[in-house]
Amino acid sequence: MRVALVGLGEIGLSAHLPALLRHPSVELVRCVDPDPERREIAAGQGIKASPDLAPEAVDGVVLATPPWVTPHLAVRYAQAGLCVLAEKPVATSVEAAQLYDELDHDQRRRVQVGLTYRHDPAIQQLKTWIEDGTLGTPILVRAHIYDEAHDAGDFEHSQRITTTLEHGSPVVHEGAHLFDWLSHLLGGPPKSLNDAWSVTTRPELPAANLVGARLSYPRGHQALVEFGWFTTALPRCELTFLGDRGLATLDGFSFALRLSTADGDHDVTFPGDRTTRCFDLQVRRFVELYDGTRKAGEPSLDDGIAALRTAELVAGRAL
Ligand SMILES: NC(=O)c1ccc[n+]([C@@H]2O[C@H](COP(=O)([O-])OP(=O)(O)OC[C@H]3O[C@@H](n4cnc5c(N)ncnc54)[C@H](O)[C@@H]3O)[C@@H](O)[C@H]2O)c1
Repeated sequence: MRVALVGLGEIGLSAHLPALLRHPSVELVRCVDPDPERREIAAGQGIKASPDLAPEAVDGVVLATPPWVTPHLAVRYAQAGLCVLAEKPVATSVEAAQLYDELDHDQRRRVQVGLTYRHDPAIQQLKTWIEDGTLGTPILVRAHIYDEAHDAGDFEHSQRITTTLEHGSPVVHEGAHLFDWLSHLLGGPPKSLNDAWSVTTRPELPAANLVGARLSYPRGHQALVEFGWFTTALPRCELTFLGDRGLATLDGFSFALRLSTADGDHDVTFPGDRTTRCFDLQVRRFVELYDGTRKAGEPSLDDGIAALRTAELVAGRAL
């Protein structure tokens, strides 16, 4: 599969590029970024990079681009007949995601969304514990998603997070992942949003940097979710799933799992680090989409838009 990596920013160079290079059936034919500095960094690693891409040159594109750019590129390349792996969130709003309506059924099914951590075996293990009754039903989920600590001395990071906040609070960016996991684990999208709140910890920030909500899911499951970015210190990033019979704790960074039941504590970990594991699985599924083993992108464009819809609902209520 001839693939181009479009977007040579943080996640493009640190995670997508090595995952593409590791897959034996992928030929990375080009990297693309309009920013000459980013192209220079790629060139320094021996990677050919250009400001734009002719779709004929490749079978698929990985779009590691900001969400205000991704929909235009995804539609353009999908309409050219390519398989598209588009980073999450798939747009900055449900309204902006209407651009995807231009795709026909076949073009749409060839879009896979970079909800990367859905692929982790820890998420599959949690799904098994929830569905086979190990934890009991209903379940109370407490999700504390905290990342991107503020370091005033790191200008590049501060600028990137400030720019991202101009396009929405952390719930829009991190919620893409979390709401996808919760729908996948709890039997569908939330039935209702019961409450939401936000806090802006520094007045100059373009959006609230702490946001939370309470949501009801099918089968009586409840979720208390919190997202936080850009404070000097951060609380632990962790998700807990508590039912009458057991408690499952997922470390938000390593995805190490602990199951606590009447039988005691049982730790479950998976080989390698979470990023390598999940980006490799993601590329494998992308290649399967191209070679026809997989009939549609997983997670699909509809999954990406559903997660965005929930995130937007929370962001709107939290104002
Ligand atoms: N799946 C994950 O786990 C994960 C993790 C981190 C970030 N992300 C997502 O990946 C995306 C990129 O994040 P990042 O942190 O790498 O951002 P970034 O700002 O570091 O990188 C984005 C890159 O895209 C380039 N770009 C902008 N417009 C372009 C265009 N028209 N064509 C080609 N390139 C263009 C920019 O020049 C920049 O180099 C975001 O949507 C983010 O939410 C996903």
